[in-house]
Amino acid sequence: MSELNLILLGPPGAGKGTQAERLVEDFDLPYYATGDILRAAVAEGTELGRKAKEYMDRGDLVPDEVIVGVIGERIDSPEALDGFLLDGFPRTLGQAEALEDALRPLGRRLTAVLSIEVGDEDVVRRLSGRRVNPKTGRVYHVEFDPPKVEGHDDIDGTKLVQRDDDREETIKHRLEVFHDQTEPLVEHYEAKGLLRRFDGSRSPDEVHAHIRATLATLRLEEQL
Ligand code: AP5
Repeated sequence: MSELNLILLGPPGAGKGTQAERLVEDFDLPYYATGDILRAAVAEGTELGRKAKEYMDRGDLVPDEVIVGVIGERIDSPEALDGFLLDGFPRTLGQAEALEDALRPLGRRLTAVLSIEVGDEDVVRRLSGRRVNPKTGRVYHVEFDPPKVEGHDDIDGTKLVQRDDDREETIKHRLEVFHDQTEPLVEHYEAKGLLRRFDGSRSPDEVHAHIRATLATLRLEEQL
């Protein structure tokens, strides 16, 4: 079977994590979300977490050299031999180049970059209403995807929390950082013929159906 080496690209709150949960089930891929990896490192108080915390709290990107090695190790691991789903990486042109440099000696290449597109106003509404299970990372929204019992996870009942960087001022700064440093990747991957665009303003199920159909077609094409 052909590899599926995928990137989820989009502004904060585009629904990357929401779609990743579904795609991991569909395609049985290892999932590497740099935001989750960094938040876990902060919670555990590791050296990586100590380096990352102040940047994350401000809504800035952590420096490329801090994050590149973290992903390099994972895509070269046995579990990622048949593919991977990256969320939140790459986020700068420097990171995109580092990823290509890491894949080349392994004789591998990206299959597609899934760009989930939503406007800034939607982002602010989504992130200010987001609630997260701090143990599993499962994501809800007070209005668009509420839990069955207010404030508690549907599956294990854990009390849901708001992420530290989901305060309105920090959200606005994260959006500026996205437009400035990450959006140029859209053009970068479009020029390489890897970009697939999705209307992220649709419902989570509609976005999912569209991505799944696109990936099924890509997989067929790879096998021809
Ligand atoms: P990270 O955790 O990656 O945050 P992000 O990219 O800002 O993305 P989010 O997790 O906020 O949003 P999402 O797109 O996953 O949306 P979600 O599915 O949750 O990064 C955090 C920080 O870590 C960065 O600021 C940076 O400091 C650092 N960092 C991480 N990677 C880095 C890197 N490579 N380099 C440097 N620094 C790095 O959905 C959001 C909400 O909307 C939810 O409530 C959900 O229920 C709802 N929702 C989802 N889809 C829909 C829909 N279709 N309709 C309505 N509501 C929806």
